[in-house]
Amino acid sequence: MRHWTTETIDQYHPLPTDLLLVLGTDQPSGLLGGEGATAFAEAIRASLANQTSGDLKGGEWVEVSGRRAWVQKVAEKPGLDADERLRSAVAEGFKAVSSRKSERVVFLADALPAAQLAVVLEGWWLSTYRFESWKSKPSAPHAVFHVVRANADPAGAASLGDAARVLDATDWVRDQVNTPGSSLTPRIFQERIGQVLSDAGIAWNARGRAELEEQGYQGLVTVGKGSDNEPFLGVARYSPENAKPGIHLVLVGKGVTFDTGGISIKPADHMWEMKNDMAGAATAIGALLAIARSGLPIAVSAVVCLVENRPGNGSVLPGDIFRAKNGKSVMVDNTDAEGRLILTDGLWEAGALGATHVVDLATLTGAVIRALGSSIAGVLSNDEGWGDSICRTGRTQGEKFWPLPLEDEYRSKLDDPVADMRNAGGVEAGAITAGLFLKEFAPEGAKWAHLDIAGTAFTTKAWKYLPEGATAFGLRTLVELARTLGRG
Ligand code: BES
Ligand code: MN
Ligand code: ZN
Repeated sequence: MRHWTTETIDQYHPLPTDLLLVLGTDQPSGLLGGEGATAFAEAIRASLANQTSGDLKGGEWVEVSGRRAWVQKVAEKPGLDADERLRSAVAEGFKAVSSRKSERVVFLADALPAAQLAVVLEGWWLSTYRFESWKSKPSAPHAVFHVVRANADPAGAASLGDAARVLDATDWVRDQVNTPGSSLTPRIFQERIGQVLSDAGIAWNARGRAELEEQGYQGLVTVGKGSDNEPFLGVARYSPENAKPGIHLVLVGKGVTFDTGGISIKPADHMWEMKNDMAGAATAIGALLAIARSGLPIAVSAVVCLVENRPGNGSVLPGDIFRAKNGKSVMVDNTDAEGRLILTDGLWEAGALGATHVVDLATLTGAVIRALGSSIAGVLSNDEGWGDSICRTGRTQGEKFWPLPLEDEYRSKLDDPVADMRNAGGVEAGAITAGLFLKEFAPEGAKWAHLDIAGTAFTTKAWKYLPEGATAFGLRTLVELARTLGRG
């Protein structure tokens, strides 16, 4: 469990074993301080400024009245804005301090505005995540992160508490995404979601194979045919009494618990990473959880399409045709383009729920990684304003999104002589043709945006302040999006 605490600087009684963490700019005289800082904090700073060498490299140890303090430089980083640099500095500083054993790391934050306290907590929380349940010797627990904030600012504690509610959901998402495929079948995932939602008092319903077949959810049924592990369509609903009228945000998540590619099987190299192919579903649920726990005044639902894509005796064959929930027929050109097939059901469900705003999240294409790399997610939307607001919101959260055009000229790449469309559009513009496919199933009259998080959901090496593995990318943006949508 995460162990952090906070006090105002007046309440703070230093323990002899405390290790201090303080932020600095490149000049020690530029130690973050000034306005709002107390005499105590100023004394520490003065002492630090005397001891730090002329120019701070990454950071350095100094001694303050017999105690150790680490001064961490908030360094310039290409492409990272001020908040991202702060998250990175806190992450690096905490790591450096942790090289000395201590019960508690005291982060002297009294001079930071309340909004940035949240960013500090994010830097610490996101960077210290571990997934070690499979290790026979898990590492020693982290020191407690103790944030010492300004006396006068009542918003400080609230800002930290708000951030913690969201961050807690990122841990849940990362745990799910890091879990191996065989340990997180659609059924197990469905049960885990049901558990975490019921703890939060959110309504949840999941339909299995028999019901999906009966009700014509052929996307999930078709992709799931190759596996004994049955598919599920899950719906979670949060509709508080004070919800803003006339708005219903529906998050639709791709939840392929493992993607072998099916009959169009993937090469062995890196195939293990396809345990992350349910990141969209996990992030949709995690965002809903954070939104509900934060009590945001907006109706939000999550629809998750859970299925395993594997070759088997009953697998869908290339060339097979099925009819989606909205009546359109689809030829399965490539069984590895399974995400868009199951999302036909998820998008249908969003419409049935009466969505006014839809966001689908999916680790959908390798093509988006070729187009935007692994730091930026693609956004494809039928409403420019809606797509833009996601990109803009992402920027406030250190999550990068970039719009790709839903270019109708490319729709013919999906043409099929027999069916209404096929599911793969060839080698060019793969992220766009995937979006054009989904657009055929987006609920009419709703603002819809598709987020292709194939590159950003999972990292095989440490990235910024994030350890390797699942990133929960998109969660903070979605929560903030719901916050702004629910306002005014
Ligand atoms: N889950 C993959 C996309 C993916 C690739 C996610 C790399 C994360 C990292 C998806 O189901 C897939 O296989 N897409 C195909 C589509 C193609 C066959 C049209 C792809 O991108 O190659
Ligand atoms: Mn695939
Ligand atoms: Zn996939």
